Parts: sequence; C-alpha cells; structure tokens
Amino acid sequence: MFSCKSGIIWEFVFALLAFVASPLSLLAAPAAKQSASGFGGGDLVRLVRKETLQFKGEPFLAAPKGQEFSVFKHEPGKGVVFLAFVQKEGEVIAVTLPEDSLELVPPDGWAFLLKGSQAFREQRFDDSKRLLARASQDALYKDLAASVLARIDALANSAVQVLQVDGDQALKNAPEVFARRQAVAQKAFLDAVTNAREMSFALYSRGFSSVAFAVDEGTERLSARVLAGKQGDAPKLEIPPAKVPREELSTKARQAAFAVVRCRQAMAVRRMVEASSYIEEGLKSEPARPELKAMQSKVQEEIRDAEDRYNAAQSNRKRNLPQALLALERGLKTCADLPSLLKLREELSGALEEKTAPAVNPAFLSVAKTSTSAVALEQGRTLYVSRCNQCHDLEMLESRSPSAWKSEVSSMAWRAKIDDTQQALIVQYLTAAHVVAGEAPVRKAD
Ligand code: HEC
Repeated sequence: MFSCKSGIIWEFVFALLAFVASPLSLLAAPAAKQSASGFGGGDLVRLVRKETLQFKGEPFLAAPKGQEFSVFKHEPGKGVVFLAFVQKEGEVIAVTLPEDSLELVPPDGWAFLLKGSQAFREQRFDDSKRLLARASQDALYKDLAASVLARIDALANSAVQVLQVDGDQALKNAPEVFARRQAVAQKAFLDAVTNAREMSFALYSRGFSSVAFAVDEGTERLSARVLAGKQGDAPKLEIPPAKVPREELSTKARQAAFAVVRCRQAMAVRRMVEASSYIEEGLKSEPARPELKAMQSKVQEEIRDAEDRYNAAQSNRKRNLPQALLALERGLKTCADLPSLLKLREELSGALEEKTAPAVNPAFLSVAKTSTSAVALEQGRTLYVSRCNQCHDLEMLESRSPSAWKSEVSSMAWRAKIDDTQQALIVQYLTAAHVVAGEAPVRKAD
C-alpha cells in the first residue's frame, strides 16, 4: 500500500470541518451494549482487507489490512462504522470505513482490566466485576485484576452494609446493638477504602496511571454516596484521604489514551517517526501502558527497516541508481516521515522523475517510437502528474506492465475524478513512458 503524502494529509485534516466529538466522550468507558452484529463505542477493531477511509463520503486515506482503529459509533445496517480520528491539534473527527471491512480485535486482559476499572469509576459494579473476572483469566494480568477485583468487591459489599445498618428501623429501638453494628460496618468500610487507596497507589507506582485513576475516583465516588446515604444525626465518617494525585492522574489517563489513538493512526499512514513521538509522550503519562509498549517495538522495527533502505539507497546511489531509487521508494513505504529518506528523495528528485514521469521531449519521443502525438503525450503527462499524486507518490513505471498500468488507471479513475478521455490520455502517456523509463541511461545522480 501507499504511504499517503504527509503534507497533503495533514492539510487535508486541518481543512476539514469536523463534526467534532468531545474527546471525553471518546475516552469514556463504552457502555456494555454492543449488539450481536455491531461494534460499541470505544471498541478496538481492525481491517480485514486494505481499505480507504472516507471523510464525508470522499476518499481520505488508505489503510493496510490489519490496521487497528477505535470505534466511535456504529449503527448496524447503515453500512459504515464511524471511527475516531484525532487531528494533530487534538480535535477529533469521525471518518468511516465499510462495516464489512472490520472485525473486532478480541479484548485482552489489559482491555478488560481497563474497562473493568472504568466501570467501577462509573459505579457500574456488576459490569466492573464481570470485566475484572475476565481480565483475571489472562495470565499476564491475573494477579493485578484479581487484587483490584477483591478491593472493589470489599468496598461495594461494605458500603451496602453501612447503608443497611443506618437504614434499619428495627435497630433504632436497640441503641446498643445499633451502635455496635454500625461501628463494625463502618470500620469494614473504612478499611476497604484504605485498601483501595493503597491499591490505587500501588498501580500508580507500577505505571498504570489509567487504572490507578479509575480505582481511586471510583472509591471517592462510592465514599460520597455512603456519606450522602447516612441519615439524620448519624456521625459523619472520616474517609481516609487519597494517596495518589488524582487530578494529575486524570490528565495522565486522558493523555495516555490519546497517545494510543494518535499512534495507531500515525502508523496507519506510515508516519513512524511521528508515531514514536506519541509513544514517548504517552509513556511519560502511563509508563506501563501495554498498547504503547507493543506499538513501540513495532515502530522501532519499521524505523530500523527504513534506515536499512536508506543505507542501501545511499550505497547504491553512484553505481546503481535504479536500485537506489527502488530502495528509496521501499523505505518511504515503510516509514513515510524518516527525515534522511525525505532528504534523499529531494536530492534524487531528478532521477526519480525519469523513472516515474519522464518529461515529453525529443529524447523521449525518439525512444518511445509511438504513434501518439506529442501534444497528447504532454496532456497525458500533465494529467498524470497533477491528478495521480494527490494522495500518494507516483510509482516507478517499471513496477508494473503497461497493461497493469491501464487497469490501475481505470480503478483509480473515480478517485482522481477523471473521465474516459482523460483516462485514455494518461494510459497513452504511461505506455510510452514505460518504454522510455526502461531504456533510460543510468544517469549519475550528482
Ligand atoms: C483520492 C486519492 C487518490 C487519487 C487521486 C489516486 N489514487 Fe491511487 N491510490 C489511492 C489509494 C487510497 C490507494 C491504496 C488503496 C487501494 O489500492 O485501494 C491507491 C493505490 C494506487 C496504486 C497501487 C495499487 C497497489 O495495489 O499497489 C497505484 C498504482 C495507483 N494508486 C495509481 C493511481 C493513478 C494512476 C491515479 C491517477 C489516475 C491515482 N492512483 C489517483 C488513492 C488515490
């Protein structure tokens, strides 16, 4: 697949007036209401084939098979899934993909742990327990999930106890029994709060900012509900204070989630250098974030690969220019924003042009030996270099046969918005240029 032209894409993105989703709604834990055939907001999905993202019905950018996205909204039967796409300045736009091009990425232990703790934060205790129980089936997160689950269970149960004792009318006639039961229930609740606070601190220390935040905030909310539920002159409880900087953690949790989404989409357009800067930022907010760590090793591998291509291009530059150009092209497909490759493309642009879209001049005409007129060839070239590189670089002419070029042009025609006459002109030019590029003397690059 093509790396999209970086500049174009971001300009594109900035120019688009978004039907903007609040970043927070994007990050909120998805309500567990995914229908059998649909995806829920926040779900992680991936492409089962290569596809083109659409924005307001127009092709927006290409993405390879296997690319992952976060679902923003899906109404089954409408044919498309809306995906959250974060722009550089933090705005979120929704782009679409056909619904049959996507499959759900099965959640792993981490996803369940995160969703389970977020459900607790939102005081959805049953969801929380169910999700954490799922998380504890994953060997990697078993211990963590089980201990979060135990703390949350203790909290929820003891909170119910306190409220039940406080509200028990029968006990009002037996003040001693009431006082005793109340003391027991309250102590159990306060102990549970202390334990949950400590759990949150432990998570924080281990670098799981998002889970730490959700556990502490959930504890805070539950405590407030217990206090609010106490009737009349029931003594106020002294809730143990938080052990984590919750405000700061809230920011970090949001930043980490954003880093994950942004990194995914930078990888989708092969902007690996940009992706690695999101990873770095994200890991500052949440040092143990598993998605970021997984993407980090992938991104590093791709960058190393592109650097190898760069080195190959450099070493071939003098003795085998076509080879160098090929390495350059491959390198940019692996990593579209590697500065060394971009600089080399600039330096080799003349030679590159001879291999992708040679100018129609006397030398061209004498090599091509075509019956097409020079005027038609020139028109074809102009169309080709203006309409066919809006979304991606021009490919090497020798990358495919003239007949394969013909079918590429016809399959790209709707994207380039060209009619049959224009298609024919481009094909005539490409057919002649194919001969010229094949015969082009191996010119010295500098
Ligand atoms: C509006 C954007 C857009 C325009 C304009 C456009 N393309 Fe593409 N092109 C894409 C996308 C997206 C892909 C990759 C996904 C696909 O193949 O569907 C692609 C892929 C290709 C490929 C590679 C196919 C492969 O399988 O490797 C070729 C060759 C190509 N385009 C040629 C052209 C030609 C020739 C034109 C002009 C007639 C053109 N493109 C115009 C978006 C565009």
